[in-house]
Amino acid sequence: MPTGFYPRCVSSLADMMKRKRDAEMRNTHNRTTSSDALVIFGVTGDLAHKMIFPALYAMAKSGVLDVPVVGVASSKWSLAQLRKRVKDSIRQAGRIDGPAALDHLLSLLRYVDGDYNDPDTFKALKQALGDARRPAHYLAIPPALFATVIKGLAAAGLADQARVIVEKPFGRDLASARELNGIALSVFPEEAIFRIDHYLGKEAIMNILYFRFANSFLEPIWNRNSVASVQITLAEDFGVKGRGSFYESAGCLRDVIQNHLFQIVALLAMEPPAFQGYAAVHSEKAKVFQAMRPLQPDDVVRGQYAGYRKEPGVAKKSDVETFCALKLFIDSWRWEGVPWYLRSGKCMAATAAEVLVELKPPPQRLFDDSAPVDGHANYLRFRLSPNSAVALAARVKRAGKEFVGDQRELYLLDEQLKKETPYERLLGDAMAGDGALFTREDAVEAAWAVVDPVLDIPRTVYRYKPGSWGPKQADALIASDGNWHNPKLVKEKK
Ligand code: BG6
Repeated sequence: MPTGFYPRCVSSLADMMKRKRDAEMRNTHNRTTSSDALVIFGVTGDLAHKMIFPALYAMAKSGVLDVPVVGVASSKWSLAQLRKRVKDSIRQAGRIDGPAALDHLLSLLRYVDGDYNDPDTFKALKQALGDARRPAHYLAIPPALFATVIKGLAAAGLADQARVIVEKPFGRDLASARELNGIALSVFPEEAIFRIDHYLGKEAIMNILYFRFANSFLEPIWNRNSVASVQITLAEDFGVKGRGSFYESAGCLRDVIQNHLFQIVALLAMEPPAFQGYAAVHSEKAKVFQAMRPLQPDDVVRGQYAGYRKEPGVAKKSDVETFCALKLFIDSWRWEGVPWYLRSGKCMAATAAEVLVELKPPPQRLFDDSAPVDGHANYLRFRLSPNSAVALAARVKRAGKEFVGDQRELYLLDEQLKKETPYERLLGDAMAGDGALFTREDAVEAAWAVVDPVLDIPRTVYRYKPGSWGPKQADALIASDGNWHNPKLVKEKK
């Protein structure tokens, strides 16, 4: 090593960190200016009805929504129709408990009708925006229309100082995600682009990040030396619920694994952020995706529930998977050799999501009964839905002469009443310019790169019975490391 190398290296590292922090502070400053209008493209669609209106209503109730809300669509609607739709949505969500807030929300609504290819639509939007200069544009429209709308906004001068909120799926493979990022970045800077993955707005998932880095006891065991494997299950006991035609173009791997489950993996696997600030969290998460080994055909088991092909919008001979299980490796110093098993499916035995971090057994078997119970050694379990909880399973001696015991859970139940829904949280954050809970360009692309090799290959899709835990071939995938942990059906109580 040349003389003087070390001090120079340290000082340039310190400079770099300082520059990074300064940039972060500058960005924070830019980001703290709130949007002064919300524009919803696709306001007559399903997403607005199911998710966005109830979130806006909740924001109106808590007093954080006080800017014009301009709906845009090509449905030839009137403002009166939009208002009716909003009321209907909130009623269906079972939430009209603040009539004043509802009136307030209705008073903020404006409506622009027009074709997204027609520059006049954007002129009309500009007019509807009145004095607003920093709108947030929510693209609740099919990804095929993103480019048209983004270009229309730019041409009409509606992108300056604006933000754009984009729904998942962000692309359908690596190439299309890159193209979309290219289009968005040609008009908006990265800090003005808010890519939604609603899992990041869930309390139980934010708690993974908090729990890992607000406690010191985990760090010594949180690596390949103590962790035998990690499992994540996201199970739903219902089918595609009328979304057959969307699902035909997606399938389970694209619909929830590449995004929701991968985000959970990133939070579990990331290194501690180097400084306080979300840019550091984004960077560490992106590194996890970059370190994931690209999937190979044998790493993936696909299933389809019996009856799926009879769902409206589904092809008679569809080979789209409604269940997917996979084995993943993260080739990093911390996780080398630790298998990660991910599984999700529709029409399964329960609606629940859990993470199970299985720990290695003690090096010596001192007690006859200290072998793994039901294939599971000590573990840490994060219950993500329908409730949020963390449990640590450890063996405890039973009273009596014998040295035998049971595996019991230290159980932390986190009942959060009155919490914000993910959409309420994320919409509010995007309008406030806070990008912490959104996904960054490089992370989205790196996540697609992992699944890309297995997306469109010829595949076998195994039939499974609705109400089961998926096809038995998924058991073979995990067999060398134990078995799947099936989350309990019922909401856990203390
Ligand atoms: C969506 C998927 O992103 O997430 C759905 O498109 C899935 O298919 C849903 O059901 C699960 O979200 P949650 O919040 O209900 O667990």
